[in-house]
Parts: sequence; structure tokens; C-alpha cells
Amino acid sequence: PQAKPIKLRDTIAFRGKRVKVNGWVHRLRSQKGMTFIELRDGTGYLQCVLTGDLPKTWDAQNLTLETSLSIWGVIAPLPEGKTAPDNHELAADFFEVIGQAPSGDEAFSNRITKDTGADLKADLRHLVLRGEVASAVLKVRAGVLRAFRKSYEDMGLLEVTPPCMVQTQVEGGSTLFAFDYYGEKAYLTQSSQLYLETCLPALGDVFCIQESFRAEKSLTRRHLSEYTHIEAELAFITFDDLLSHLEELMCRTLETVLTDPKVAPLIKELNPTFEAPARPFLRMTYEDAIQWLVEHQIPNDEGEPHKFGDDIAEAAERRMTDTIGKPIFLTKFPVEIKAFYMKKVDGDPRVTESVDCLMPGVGEIVGGSMRMDDLEELMGGYKREGIGAEPYYWFTDQRKYGTTPHGGYGLGLERFLAWLCARYTVRDCSLYPRWTGRCTP
Ligand code: 4AD
Ligand code: MG
Repeated sequence: PQAKPIKLRDTIAFRGKRVKVNGWVHRLRSQKGMTFIELRDGTGYLQCVLTGDLPKTWDAQNLTLETSLSIWGVIAPLPEGKTAPDNHELAADFFEVIGQAPSGDEAFSNRITKDTGADLKADLRHLVLRGEVASAVLKVRAGVLRAFRKSYEDMGLLEVTPPCMVQTQVEGGSTLFAFDYYGEKAYLTQSSQLYLETCLPALGDVFCIQESFRAEKSLTRRHLSEYTHIEAELAFITFDDLLSHLEELMCRTLETVLTDPKVAPLIKELNPTFEAPARPFLRMTYEDAIQWLVEHQIPNDEGEPHKFGDDIAEAAERRMTDTIGKPIFLTKFPVEIKAFYMKKVDGDPRVTESVDCLMPGVGEIVGGSMRMDDLEELMGGYKREGIGAEPYYWFTDQRKYGTTPHGGYGLGLERFLAWLCARYTVRDCSLYPRWTGRCTP
């Protein structure tokens, strides 16, 4: 029997018709001479019923989980009292095995069980991906990327693709991955920010969606060595404009995914209680946050009460965010704990026009700021950070040839997803996550 195969996401349109479907055995159950296969093809699931007397090239008894096959039959509504995806099933009249998966010790179900440890699961990531949860997160990820691009298009930003191989640092030298570039030292990029800044006079407001790399030395639930970084840069704006833009971007993007018929049901499954946050997001200065942490007796990393100038560590930040229970724009961090390029607040040179966006369950998902647009001030910034200005000539030139007030931010896609999909760790939000000591598969 010949027929053009259909994708499982499209089966509703073929109800009552005879079709061919391709896929993998996702679940398997035999009962009273009938075999029930839940078939998976990545786009959806379909229950297929194989009865004893159908002509076939294989014995249904030998079917195993993850075997790939083609099945032909009519898509029929379910008999009363039964349930299956989309409320219909395929009454198979013919099937053909394409690649039989092993049974016994090597069987899929014996390699990955509920009790498979985290390390082995990471080794078997290529198989774990076939699971319902892992694949749902990756489908949401694709929808979120689509939605961000749509928001940027609607908000008038242009997409660019900066290089990943660079010879400058952005976020401090300690997390750089260095490598040999034709005999010269080069690094994997930590952020495309500096390149985006150079695009403003050429292309107007810009964004990029690019991998960033951080040689993080600690193992935490929210740090990867390679992550997808959504960054944007905007010219002729104020700090308030930057905050409004960020709020707008996130709310538009959430609106798009929560009304996307392909994505919204997956989010509902993964995170049943998720609700898009109300605008405006809470604004809180760093100084007020320190006050809040003191009042709530949440100590700093040394176990002492927080004081002005302290880094707010991950645990303290999360406790604060979880207690407040909604997005927070944490603003105006001290100069000493922020990057060299951040603009100081007019009238309060202790602090910068900087913002972190914090989300319940995850903490920081966005870091941004207004940039120093004055040449002399930037030279001072290099000096304070102890970096030679020479390799940054192209970035410095930005302040010579028509400088403007401008600002931007970076959003960690995996952190955004961990929040949206209620995942415990960002590792579950990456196709093949990399972290300290893990660069495989
Ligand atoms: O706060 P960060 O370091 O800021 C920058 O890199 C700026 N240059 C961005 C810019 O202004 N264009 O990083 C931005 C965001 C963080 O808020 C976090 O969400 C994510 O990137 N991020 C990480 N995500 C996963 N693993 C890591 N190791 C991350 N480091 C940062
Ligand atoms: Mg940051």
C-alpha cells in the first residue's frame, strides 16, 4: 500500500480517512490479541491499534519501545469510554518495521527509568530528549524564540549576528574561555553587547540571539558554560525607557506564547499555575533590596547582615524574589560590583544606571544598563577594571564618532524558560547543556 505519510500533528484533518504514518513506538501494550502502540513522530502522538489478523512484515509480538515503523490504517474516533491523544486512534491494517530497537538489557526502558541518576541521565541526554517532558520543554523553547523574534520585529529592532570568537572581554576576565586563534589568544564571547553598540549608528536599534560562553567555576541550578543569550541595544533612550522596553518585550513575548495553540498547552502541562505577570513590574533599588534583606534577616555570603556594596548572592536573591513572588526590576547597583561600561547615576556617583530583572523560582534572568557614552569616563572605566584600552579601539570609537545616550541588556533564554516552564534547573532547558566538567554528548 502506498500513500504519502502524514505528520501526527495533522491527524485531526484526516479523521475517517486511510493514512500512512511514520514514527517511533513511544508506548506499547498488548491485550486480548490486540497491540496498542502509542506512536510518536516528534510533532505529536497517535494511538494505533494492531489486531491479530493484519498482514505485516513483522510479528507484533517482537515490537519493542523506540522501534521505528510505518503504519497504515483509518483514523477513527475512539469508542465510548476510552481516551487517547486527540480522541481518535488509527485502526491499523498494515505495518512495516523500519528499525527495530533492542530488547533485554539494552532495551530503552531498561536504560532510562524513573531512578536513573542525574549523571547517567546527562550521558543519555540523546535518549532522554525523546521523553514527553524534555521534548515539551524544547518545543516551548522554539515557540519562545519565535515569539521573541516577533516582538522585536513589532518593536522595530533589527537582528544581527555578531561573532562568537573575540579578543575582548565584556563581563570580567574570570569566566573567559580562551583558545588559540592562528597563534594569537582569543576567547569565546561572553556577550555580544559591545558589538551591538557599534551597530546603533549603522542599523538603528538591534538585537541578537547568540550563544554566550562562561567558564563558570561553580555548579548551580542556573549556570551553564554555554547558553543562549538574547541581547538588544537601543540608542537615544533614558534609563526609564530601558525599563519600559524590557517590560514591553517580556509581556509581548509571553502574550504571543500563551496564545500560540502549539505552545500554550505545553506550558499548561509543564507549569499549570503559570500566569503572565501584571504590569508595571515592581521597581526596587539595590539600596532598598539591601534594606529588605537586613529586615528579613537574610545574611550575605559571609553570614553577616547585608550592607551597601555587597554582592547579593544567588541564594539571598532567590529568597527575596520568591518571598515577593513577582518580577522585580532591581536597579542602581554600586559601581564596584558592576561592569566597567555602566553609566553612573546623575547626582549619585556611587551607583549605576543598571537593572537586573528577577523572577520567582530563578532569580536574575536579565542584566542590563545604560552605557557610559562619554569618552573620558569610558577610559576611566577601562582603568578601573585593569584592562588595556588598545584591543577596544573599535568600541572606544563609538564615543568619538557621534556618541549618544544608549543602553541595552542581555536575557538568558534558559533562565527565562526555567521560569516559564517551572524547571528546577536551566540544564533542562538546553538541548545539550554544558556545565563545569560536562561537554558531552
Ligand atoms: O548579567 P550578564 O552577565 O550581562 C551581560 O552579559 C551583559 N553584557 C548583557 C548586555 O547588557 N547585553 O548576563 C546577562 C544574562 C543574565 O541575566 C542571565 O540570565 C544570563 O545572561 N546568564 C547566564 N545564563 C546561564 N548560564 C550562565 N552562566 C549565565 N550567565 C549569564
Ligand atoms: Mg548579571
